[in-house]
Amino acid sequence: HPTNFQMEESSSLRPANCRSKGTGPGFKVAILGAAGGIGQPLSMLMKMNPLVSVLHLYDVVNTLGVMADISHMDTGAVVRGFLGQQQLENALTGMDLVIIPAGVPRKPGMTRDDLFNINAGIVKTLCEGIAKHCPKAIVNLISNPVNSTVPIAAEVFRKSGTYDPRRLLGVTMLDVVRANTFVAEVLNIDPREVNVPVIGGHAGVTILPLLSQVKPPSTFTQEETEYLTTRIQNGGTEVVEAKAGAGSATLSMAYAAVKFAEACLRGLSGDAGVIECAFVDSQVTELPFFATKVRLGRNGVEEIIPLGPLNEYERAGLEKAKEELAASIQKGVAFIRK
Ligand code: NAD
Ligand code: LMR
Repeated sequence: HPTNFQMEESSSLRPANCRSKGTGPGFKVAILGAAGGIGQPLSMLMKMNPLVSVLHLYDVVNTLGVMADISHMDTGAVVRGFLGQQQLENALTGMDLVIIPAGVPRKPGMTRDDLFNINAGIVKTLCEGIAKHCPKAIVNLISNPVNSTVPIAAEVFRKSGTYDPRRLLGVTMLDVVRANTFVAEVLNIDPREVNVPVIGGHAGVTILPLLSQVKPPSTFTQEETEYLTTRIQNGGTEVVEAKAGAGSATLSMAYAAVKFAEACLRGLSGDAGVIECAFVDSQVTELPFFATKVRLGRNGVEEIIPLGPLNEYERAGLEKAKEELAASIQKGVAFIRK
């Protein structure tokens, strides 16, 4: 096996006269952390996405195997693998969208903030690469704690003079996916028909589902509201505990990440009315970052959708969310400014 590989599928095994494959229309997408628990199913699902023409898989371990495996899928995207820091430049150059699930996951008893010490440095390094090699790419940041890693990424980009707040999105889609599922269970309807806006951030009480704005319009008893809010806020912990030390959500996260990436790519391709929730640079509250519904377009976030009317329970939740969020954002900013 080549140790320093950067090959396109199993190109070294092809006959010399093998006709080269055109990449066709579509977007170039890089996944950083592609060999991990999220990265592998995410890579597989992105290889199946017709909007993707080129898929770059980057990790610091095991990329060769994942790339070889996924490259055998008979879908359109050309897959290339990149291993280790010295190949980050080639992994990133020319990319339209960079998805980052790199970093360590939680074990039972840990908060997402307990991951800060390791993941902050990983996100910093990867974002320095993005600033240098594909500063115009849309970035979907999955690595936890999202409430701090997004401010870290923003500071890295700001420092390098490349910061475009429209292009940096913290992925909170899994909270929406969970909320849709749990609300559909309570309403006894198909989850595909449900849309729950989830605002704030991505940890504990900062995850704030707006049950008063559920589509289709629905009402909930106080007991249902409290059950649903708590279950949605603890969805990640529920999986961490069930996996009992073997990591956190990976499969539902890969599903959510692809749903979100696809929305970004549809926006990039000019589709109108693409709206999803994400943790972004925002003036919707006094905090510098906040998750709300956003409209996605050719430049990334084209519009931040206002919060809309909140009921008393949600207003109280918002105050709690903002308090914790402010500290997490500050911690991320300080990590780069220190
Ligand atoms: P994992 O340990 O299975 O995989 C992480 C991968 O990142 C590994 O393959 C590792 O080699 C790679 N990696 C580490 N350092 C790297 C670097 N410098 N460059 C590139 N790759 C690097 O973890 P996982 O279960 O896939 O979770 C990844 C992250 O996603 C965790 O921080 C987790 O908390 C987070 N997460 C976020 C959400 C969300 O909703 N935003 C949901 C689930 C998990
Ligand atoms: C999740 O919500 O599943 C992720 O943020 C992972 C975690 O640590 O809970």
